[in-house]
Amino acid sequence: MKVTVFGTGYVGLVQGAILADVGHHVMCVDVDEAKVARLKKGEIPIYEPGLEPIVKENYDAGRLEFTTDAAEGVKHGDVQFIAVGTPPDEDGSADLQYVLAVAATIAEHMERRQIIVDKSTVPVGTADKVAAKVASVLKARGRSDLPFDVVSNPEFLKEGSAVADCMKPDRIIIGTSSEHSESVLRELYGPFNRNHDKIMVMDVRSAELTKYAANCMLATKISFMNEIANLAELLGADIEAVRQGIGSDPRIGYHFIYPGVGYGGSCFPKDVQALIRTADSVDFEALVLKSVEERNRQQKTTLFQKLNTHYQGQLAGKTFALWGLSFKPNTDDMRDAPSRVLMEALWAAGANVQAYDPEAMEEAQRIYGHRADLTLCGTKEAALSGADALVIVTEWQAFRVPDFEVMKEHLKEPTIFDGRNMYGPARMAENGFTYYSVGRPSKLTLKEVAAAAG
Ligand SMILES: NC(=O)c1ccc[n+]([C@@H]2O[C@H](COP(=O)([O-])OP(=O)(O)OC[C@H]3O[C@@H](n4cnc5c(N)ncnc54)[C@H](O)[C@@H]3O)[C@@H](O)[C@H]2O)c1
Repeated sequence: MKVTVFGTGYVGLVQGAILADVGHHVMCVDVDEAKVARLKKGEIPIYEPGLEPIVKENYDAGRLEFTTDAAEGVKHGDVQFIAVGTPPDEDGSADLQYVLAVAATIAEHMERRQIIVDKSTVPVGTADKVAAKVASVLKARGRSDLPFDVVSNPEFLKEGSAVADCMKPDRIIIGTSSEHSESVLRELYGPFNRNHDKIMVMDVRSAELTKYAANCMLATKISFMNEIANLAELLGADIEAVRQGIGSDPRIGYHFIYPGVGYGGSCFPKDVQALIRTADSVDFEALVLKSVEERNRQQKTTLFQKLNTHYQGQLAGKTFALWGLSFKPNTDDMRDAPSRVLMEALWAAGANVQAYDPEAMEEAQRIYGHRADLTLCGTKEAALSGADALVIVTEWQAFRVPDFEVMKEHLKEPTIFDGRNMYGPARMAENGFTYYSVGRPSKLTLKEVAAAAG
């Protein structure tokens, strides 16, 4: 099948490549000329495990093409995917300007029946807005005779495992009332729907809301766990024991109940905000979601508060090693990352940061390369060198089993602020570290361990 994908970001590029990989002929359109030029040279602008060989192989085979020419793109596809960004507007609602711009572009150039698929995360009612935009441009062209459908097909991939998620989706949601569109999308997704039927067909509005409900539920789990972790710290309980205690209940489960430094990334923060605004628009107060958002905002400041308390407000002139810049492991995405909130607070307090991340160094350079109080280091050990303490913000596998002796040699003081509970407090105390983590006894030094042991 001939498919066009507008937007070659984390969603569009992965989805386009995966569709090409099963034999569809995919043309990816982007307005970013530099990005398209890189893709044509075989360079992948984002870090996503396993993506590069799939893009290269399908590009070389001619099944995957890249262009900035929207007219060529519209001409190519029988199905037109919209996979552009939906960033938050000033008031937190989803900014639909990019989605509607693509809708207008499709309508300007279409010459035959089209199925237009909203893959971007868009508020309930957006398919109607896209349809109205297409209809108005067609009318202006005098081509109201051209039939089209607008389908909601939200994307559920996770950055870091996007390729696997697209190849083996948990579900494929198709929001449409058109039998024709349903049957075309069933055919398109057939190769991903073999083991058992993963396709769920529903009305457009339910499909649009399903995506927000999924992300908001996940964000709620995180904020809930962070709330209990903060409470555990104050009550002298251990959140790791509590986590396992509740996870064993199959109604709760072990997934996604890790405490930490708050959620970030390009989806949860903006999607929670957008659903709150959608609720406002129908005069409904989203009480749970507002609390989820506020807990997350506060949680992102907790590492800084621990540092500030430990150093009694004397952070100016200190240097901190920071491990992990991306908002989660296995991606280079730093959008809304907790590391940014922490670094900006440290800089405001006059401290310096020596940072290391396995994949996000280029992105950090792009965002903060101009700062004199940030040193981007080539290795995790280099980041430690001469630093007053280590702060861990992202739970990359590469940080799980460090050489604690080497750490001590590099750091001025053996002090770690761990935002991801990477290590055991007792073991850290035995190793001679002053160790702060999340939702566990706030600090355990050798002396305290000895005292506790009697
Ligand atoms: N990133 C994720 O993990 C994820 C997961 C599921 C859903 N989503 C949703 O998918 C959508 C896209 O997210 P993303 O992370 O891929 O965004 P992104 O910012 O990485 O990519 C968007 C791309 O669209 C391009 N673009 C903008 N206007 C265009 C136009 N008129 N024509 C062609 N291209 C245009 C941009 O240049 C950019 O390359 C968002 O709505 C997001 O919420 C994202």
